[in-house]
Amino acid sequence: MSRIDNLMARMTLAEKLGQLTMTASSYTVTGPVIAGDSTQSIIDGTIGNLLNMVGAGPVHEMQRLAVEKSRLRIPLLIGLDIIHGHRTLFPIPLAEAGVFDENLWERTAREAAREGTADGLAMTFAPMLDVSRDPRWGRTAEGPGEDSWLNARIAQAKVRGFQGNDLSSPEAMAACAKHFVAYGGVTAGREYAAVDISERNLREVYLPGFAAAVHAGVATLMPAFTDLNGVPMTAHIPLLRDWLRGEMGFDGVIVSDYNAIAELIKHGVAADLVDAAVLALKAGVDIDMMADAYRKGLPIALEQGRVTIEEIDASVRRVLRLKEQLGLFDDPYRRGATPEPAAVVARRHALARDVARRAVVMLKNERDTLPLSAAAKALCVIGPLADASTEMKGPWWGAGEHEPAISVLAGLRAALPQTDIRHAPGVAIESDDESGIEAAARLCDGADAVLLCLGERATMSGEAASRATPALPGRQQALAEAVMARAHALGIPVVAILFSGRPLVVPWLSEHADALLAAWFLGVEAGHAIADVVTGQVSPVGRTPMSWPRAVGQVPIFYGQRPSGRPMNPADYFTSKYQDVDNTPLYAFGHGLTYGRFSYDDLQVAPPRVREQDTLKISVSLRNVGAREAEETVFLFVRAKVSRVTRPLLELKGYAKLRLKPGEAGSVDLELRAAELRLLGPDLQPLFETGEVEILVGPSAEQTGLLRQTIELC
Ligand code: GLC
Repeated sequence: MSRIDNLMARMTLAEKLGQLTMTASSYTVTGPVIAGDSTQSIIDGTIGNLLNMVGAGPVHEMQRLAVEKSRLRIPLLIGLDIIHGHRTLFPIPLAEAGVFDENLWERTAREAAREGTADGLAMTFAPMLDVSRDPRWGRTAEGPGEDSWLNARIAQAKVRGFQGNDLSSPEAMAACAKHFVAYGGVTAGREYAAVDISERNLREVYLPGFAAAVHAGVATLMPAFTDLNGVPMTAHIPLLRDWLRGEMGFDGVIVSDYNAIAELIKHGVAADLVDAAVLALKAGVDIDMMADAYRKGLPIALEQGRVTIEEIDASVRRVLRLKEQLGLFDDPYRRGATPEPAAVVARRHALARDVARRAVVMLKNERDTLPLSAAAKALCVIGPLADASTEMKGPWWGAGEHEPAISVLAGLRAALPQTDIRHAPGVAIESDDESGIEAAARLCDGADAVLLCLGERATMSGEAASRATPALPGRQQALAEAVMARAHALGIPVVAILFSGRPLVVPWLSEHADALLAAWFLGVEAGHAIADVVTGQVSPVGRTPMSWPRAVGQVPIFYGQRPSGRPMNPADYFTSKYQDVDNTPLYAFGHGLTYGRFSYDDLQVAPPRVREQDTLKISVSLRNVGAREAEETVFLFVRAKVSRVTRPLLELKGYAKLRLKPGEAGSVDLELRAAELRLLGPDLQPLFETGEVEILVGPSAEQTGLLRQTIELC
């Protein structure tokens, strides 16, 4: 008899429901929850999983209660949100998406897993795979940006990184694909609001990232808080049981979001906790995080005959199997057994600095304002985000709460010890107090350049942080206008650096700043990374993974829109447009400048006619006609010219990078399996259509910058 069969045969109902329950250690967030002192429940075997513990000591202490004092000695599964690094915080996921580097995505997850397992943890609630096209939604910060194809690649890289190829390894942890599904489509960008999307959008935009995670072997998955087209995801039988477990064959553990089972009552689909427990169990949710619905509701539901013990046992088996896969039965203390050497942590910080440098997106750089002149004697570092080390860690710092982070000011002072670096916040991030603006503007006198550090407080994005007006908060615009006026009157360039968990609506700043960087929230090495970029130690590489709106009224805005029967035409009044704003984004998906300048030429696509089983070979020539070495990111898009369904104007199907010295030429080679051009026909069934397809290659989704060639699918 297997270990699991043996345990199943011996477990009481209370012990089984304990394995289906996860509680937070000692703090609560919403509703009547079971957190607090769980020690007796662990000893009684009526709590089998924990979250929000930090530190190998406390984790091992709880584990010892389960393994050495409980009747059946079943080890605890202990998880924590490791969203972009554990203690060593990397750039927020939205920033990291813009690095466009699958190896780096995997490496940061690998390093986060190493650091998290060194703290005794065996599970993280990541990667977050919620495509978002709405910067009002705060959780864009945690996600992959607007593109489904990119999301799928991030999913695979993160699952590989967290889980490695052996879940039982002391450095591996169970990943969790979340939040299933289409959470990024909340109504009006408002957090937790209802989601209404078409079946086509569901299958073409939102499901592929989760399919990729399942194919990569993700061990767990978390349904979203939200309802999708009227059915809350925590009770969504068609998507959780039929699509995920049925069609996709996912046999891992489904863990509810925090208190989400109980919130089925607030959704109005459950009359009480018993109803809620029945709905969630029937949908295949295995672990009840923080609602205590399973322990309180399922015994009653069982008596009422509304669930069977077999349904409960199926979930218990999945949880026990995950614990077995993680090696928790064989050695519950293997994770966190040995503290990490300082050299390992130092190397991790070096990686954090490298990823942060690569995540900075240079949106504008007029007259080569950047990199700063080496002859600069005096710099002004102005704005509320200049000396804001805590904000650099972004909205989900997790175990990094007490880790020091490098501010812009500290990074610049370290990089330029001989330079007179003057600093004034000017205003606070959100206050209406303008009294510091005049003094800040006066700092410009006699300076060589101004670095204007503006943007959001870290907790203005992330969970429960939607903004109806995703612009500069407080009186930062007034500060920007005063500093810009003074600096430009003195002939001094202004570099604006934006810190945010989302694209911001900043048309004035975009127009008036001489250079504009999107620095998102770059993690513990933020200041050093920004200094490396602005001083020219490295060229910026980052690209924006979300379109930047000119006005919030354009939202949702994304490059993959469908054409409309009356596409925008300035010569024709009756075409798709706004009267007051251009249709195009302020900055397109994939936009990002470097210190080089790249010309594209000689696009080659072969063969000209392709069958479904063929592979397209695509090459393009580049030359760096700029004055500095830099690395270019080249995107591959496709566009079906005629199809039986209206197709997006562009679809991302690949990217590649090429580093060239000034004057140097090179070529980029890409491959595309023709099978990837399959689409969902009018009946939403996969379809390989014959006919003409455009292959487009260029530096962003900005159409005017793309080289194109038509091929024939046959
Ligand atoms: C939160 C989030 C989820 C997170 C979970 C545990 O409310 O929605 O992403 O993993 O609770 O902290």
